[in-house]
Amino acid sequence: MALIIRPRVEGDLEVLVAVLAESHRTDRYPVMAEHVSTAWLAEKGDPAWVAELDGVAVGHAAVAGTPGEPLELTRLVVSSSARGEGVATRLLDVVEQYAEAVGSPLFLDVLEYNSNAMRLYERRGWHATFSERVDWFGSDGPQPQMRRYVKPGTDLTS
Ligand SMILES: CC(C)(COP(=O)(O)OP(=O)(O)OC[C@H]1O[C@@H](n2cnc3c(N)ncnc32)[C@H](O)[C@@H]1OP(=O)(O)O)[C@@H](O)C(=O)NCCC(=O)NCCS
Repeated sequence: MALIIRPRVEGDLEVLVAVLAESHRTDRYPVMAEHVSTAWLAEKGDPAWVAELDGVAVGHAAVAGTPGEPLELTRLVVSSSARGEGVATRLLDVVEQYAEAVGSPLFLDVLEYNSNAMRLYERRGWHATFSERVDWFGSDGPQPQMRRYVKPGTDLTS
């Protein structure tokens, strides 16, 4: 198994949207079907990385924000067929190294039914700071519970 983490390029988006489509069905990530799109994947996040397993893009992560200020880890997803083999762990290693290099604290928001994701963050020592019901989808849409995690050593007040 040859796993590499590399910067995302335009040509990755189509394959990654197929990964998102699967994740939307199995994990309700993203929550909304209309977010299974290249636009949603690329809307937030610069830089972004792809996990490539034996030449196939199987995972993605990005950060949003301004280097030097708090950065949000976002758009983390791994194909079902590649899960449980450390792909997300490797992506998070790269994201955390990037944030450290640019001097940024890191945070992320996760919906509380994404228990695999929360376990992964907690295993890496991230800690939850608060939890709230969100209304991103309007009063008629789903209102899931969201939890914010911060990376250890992160000071979001600075
Ligand atoms: C959350 C998610 C990204 C995790 O991806 P992943 O690649 O399976 O994560 P990892 O393999 O790094 O870690 C997951 C498990 O594999 C295990 N693992 C890690 N490295 C491993 C390795 N080399 N070999 C075997 N297992 C390994 C970990 O111990 C972990 O087990 P546990 O959580 O049951 O204790 C994936 O489940 C996903 O895409 N979920 C849907 C989208 C989502 O929720 N995104 C987050 C939004 S905030």
